[in-house]
Amino acid sequence: MSKVTVVGAGNVGATCANVLVCNQVADEVVLLDIKEGVSEGKAMDIMQTASILGTNTRLTGVTNDYAATEGSDVVVITSGIPRKPGMTREELIGVNAGIVRSVTENVLAHSPNAIILCVSNPMDTMTYLIHKVTNLPKNRIIGMGGALDSARFRYFLSQALGANANEVEGIVIGGHGDTTMIPLKRYAAYRGIPASSLMPAEQLDKVAADTMVGGATLTKLLGTSAWYAPGAAAAQVVAAVLGDQKRMISCSALLEGEYGEKDLCIGVPCILGRNGIEKIVEFDLNEEEKALFAASAAAVHKTNAALA
Ligand code: NAI
Ligand code: 2OP
Repeated sequence: MSKVTVVGAGNVGATCANVLVCNQVADEVVLLDIKEGVSEGKAMDIMQTASILGTNTRLTGVTNDYAATEGSDVVVITSGIPRKPGMTREELIGVNAGIVRSVTENVLAHSPNAIILCVSNPMDTMTYLIHKVTNLPKNRIIGMGGALDSARFRYFLSQALGANANEVEGIVIGGHGDTTMIPLKRYAAYRGIPASSLMPAEQLDKVAADTMVGGATLTKLLGTSAWYAPGAAAAQVVAAVLGDQKRMISCSALLEGEYGEKDLCIGVPCILGRNGIEKIVEFDLNEEEKALFAASAAAVHKTNAALA
């Protein structure tokens, strides 16, 4: 039996729960929110698709009832406020730090062995906060940002190449922020062929730039931040953990010297399995990428300082 709790039944949390149910990622999913009736309603709506889609995952919605989350293998934290047009993710820290802290304490009281997946923004700082609050082993705390940013990179690459997104490779590391994320242009490829040999440098630069403001572009269009790809990206990470997939996904992880950085959570390629972050994959960055990573880490440290 596998059990997942998703805290926050808003746009991202409900979408994540929906993907978990549709793809039968877990046997049981609990969706929890503080707003009376919202998670119950969304869970009922999603479960009414079960006979249509042929899924056997059981989803329950609860209002602040942490007892119902007892024994979860993975807990996804999406509770908090999203950005509005013109806002940065970093501006959310004041409100979201309090929410993430109390939610983390509540979920661990009922699921002391859970792996925690942080989605709430500013995500790298919220992931770091969870480390500080819990002191859990570093493998058990995962931040979701790179999974989404890499999916956006692959989308923009596929658009530029006129290719299927599934046949295009691209990974984004660094902080989950408009100016801190680093789409690795050097490793972008179409079925192994470097993207740099398939399009002019300026076009690849534009793909990277569009990726970096991918969230802001959607926030401007939607009036709030995006949810379909974020929810699906969170579910992808849960699936990699519960399925012990040993899959490489860019995630925010606590660094202890990797890539020359320590005492912060930031996006790096991680191997995900039943123990959470089972390995941080290190590879040689070139001088330009090293400088970008150092600047990204400095920016994340600066946001972390606002926690004090
Ligand atoms: P939303 O406003 O639609 O949903 C948030 C939900 O959290 C609401 O239903 C609210 O009632 C609930 N909530 C607030 N305090 C709570 C508490 N103490 N306990 C339980 N539930 C609580 O927001 P949305 O769009 O779902 O975004 C959620 C968070 O995820 C935001 O911080 C957003 O910035 C972040 N996000 C992160 C992404 C990433 O890649 N890491 C991508 C997209 C969004
Ligand atoms: C996103 O990237 C705002 O983190 C959110 O869509």
